[in-house]
Amino acid sequence: MMRQAVHDATNVAGVRDIMSDQLAKVVPLPEIQIKAELVHEIIRLKRERNAIILGHNYMEPALYHTVPDHVGDSLGLARISAESEADIILFCGVKFMAETAKILNPTRTVLLPSLRAGCSLAAAITPEDIRKLREEFPGAPVVNYVNTYADVKGETDICCTSSNAVAVANHLFSQGNDQILFLPDQYLTANVAREIGIKVVVPKLLGGPGADAIEPGERALITWNGTCEVHELFSTDDISSVRKQFPDVVVLAHPECKEEVVDDADFSGSTSAMIKYVEEVDAPRYLLLTECSMGDNIIAANPHRDVLRLCSQRCPHMAEITLEDTLEALRKTQHEIELPAELIAGARASLDRMLEIGPGAMVGEDTE
Ligand code: 13P
Ligand code: SF4
Repeated sequence: MMRQAVHDATNVAGVRDIMSDQLAKVVPLPEIQIKAELVHEIIRLKRERNAIILGHNYMEPALYHTVPDHVGDSLGLARISAESEADIILFCGVKFMAETAKILNPTRTVLLPSLRAGCSLAAAITPEDIRKLREEFPGAPVVNYVNTYADVKGETDICCTSSNAVAVANHLFSQGNDQILFLPDQYLTANVAREIGIKVVVPKLLGGPGADAIEPGERALITWNGTCEVHELFSTDDISSVRKQFPDVVVLAHPECKEEVVDDADFSGSTSAMIKYVEEVDAPRYLLLTECSMGDNIIAANPHRDVLRLCSQRCPHMAEITLEDTLEALRKTQHEIELPAELIAGARASLDRMLEIGPGAMVGEDTE
């Protein structure tokens, strides 16, 4: 395992040799020398400060394959952060993920390398929107995607991630709910509804028919208008043109992609579920419809796999997280996530309920 070998290396030359061996296909060699110095210093400081580094699957390869103690998807990293006993949790991901770590482990110092690492989904909904939706659909439970900020989680009954969205919806239906507010990603909601075989309804608040479109006792998901600025750009034309060039390609799409894209794909799942698929299911080649860095990470770890990715769509928020800023955050203990105690208490219940649904109900698992 490359990360362990990098952590065991005793000097910069050792780190550089491991990185050159394993990353040469995806990181240019002149960059490896510079990055090896940063990596060695981050690991030294991490030990000195009793810090743990968590890295989302979208981190660039020279970071992803070196400094994190754990890598994974939103759900896997949330679980790990809930159990960490380190003094500092340094989160190499975006702000809503670092906030989730803070909510789940409020006594720890949680740092984010760049406070500019936002998310178009998290920016798409406010606590006020949720209060209005509750008025429109009294009694309907509120599910929010974990890609939301702490104040929104404070208005939420239960969170979900791309790993467990279907399980969370089924759990609420099994408890006797007919309508569920399923927010804020319109495409994730549509993909969950499609999988369960129920309808999606646009609330009157957004100009839709609201409850008028639902028969008494009919099951439905009430949606919102948020989108992931990266995944919404993939199209069925992308799939058909790649299939024309490579008829044997297996297409994997994240559930934040449009319904018709997920429908055309061969597999849909969280970032970790996609990684697991490529590692475990033999195919002549794979097309990944997700943030491009993840394709690089898979290629570096699985040189025998032929992975295609469309790199014109990038997540600018994930790209904010660099080795340079990771080192600065550790050196200066900077960009700490601070949340008021009452907000943490309110938001915590929505995450605890999600984690209680349990691993048996999950679709994708973390990679370590
Ligand atoms: P995962 O939970 O699948 O890692 O997704 C997080 C995300 O932001 C995808 O765009
Ligand atoms: Fe948010 Fe999309 Fe970036 Fe994921 S890829 S962090 S959902 S903007």
